Amino acid sequence: MNTISTLLKQKQTGDRITMITAYDYTTAKIMDQCGVNSILVGDSLGMVMLGYENTLPVTMDDMIHHTAAVSRGAENAFVVADMPFLSYQVSVQDAVANAGRLIKEGGANAVKLEGGADVCDRISAIVKASVPVVAHLGLTPQSVNAFGGFKVQGKSLDNARKLIDDAMKIQDAGACAVVLEGIPAKLAEIITKKLTIPTIGIGAGSGCDGQVLVYQDMLGLTTGHTPKFVKRFADVGTLMRQGITDYINETKSGAFPSEEHTYSIDEDVIAELIKEEDQK
Ligand code: KIV
Repeated sequence: MNTISTLLKQKQTGDRITMITAYDYTTAKIMDQCGVNSILVGDSLGMVMLGYENTLPVTMDDMIHHTAAVSRGAENAFVVADMPFLSYQVSVQDAVANAGRLIKEGGANAVKLEGGADVCDRISAIVKASVPVVAHLGLTPQSVNAFGGFKVQGKSLDNARKLIDDAMKIQDAGACAVVLEGIPAKLAEIITKKLTIPTIGIGAGSGCDGQVLVYQDMLGLTTGHTPKFVKRFADVGTLMRQGITDYINETKSGAFPSEEHTYSIDEDVIAELIKEEDQK
């Protein structure tokens, strides 16, 4: 069973942390059986599961629904649930109540929220309520409008300094780990060395304590533009298309279902049934 202590120990021993997103029971179960350390129910579900353009429309109810499904499938993985846009920005009270719902109703082990110094009061209040918090810095997707698009962060000296400062502050506020997204690898390395809590990178190079990817990206299920940091570990999309096309063709031709996929009945029973039907 992976816990916040396991993840911390992995940082200390140099055993890299593996995290993948999941949004449903079946996928979470497969990932858990493969031995992934942590599953993130990301608000990326807005795009990859619900077809929105970005993460902003995702609601607490969406997050709870998907987190509960993932929690039922994950026996050993540490389940982290994203706090969606406006579930923690408005007030500290909202933040604690909504984090609590993801644990109570969703069965998550921790919550994740985006931001640095500006959300430290939320982080410490949630941690005080005994809910572990994973922070998220860099290219934080809920700020897409403020950034003016999905742009790599931390490239200028000021911006890099601010990210280092934010990282120290969220650690002091009690975060148990931090996701570093879309920042230069060398900056992520500096942050990783400075922090005592684990860093989990996505588009932040190999110097982080762990990595996270959106599963549809890494398994070839997404189409269109994929960011530079995505590696396609399998082409499940092609396999699915092949399987679905074969099903359509075999169903239309009558090749499916064959005898092997069909239930039988005693000849005597069917003969009697036919006799009865003929007499009607
Ligand atoms: O929502 C998400 O999937 C995430 C990852 C990209 C880190 O926050």
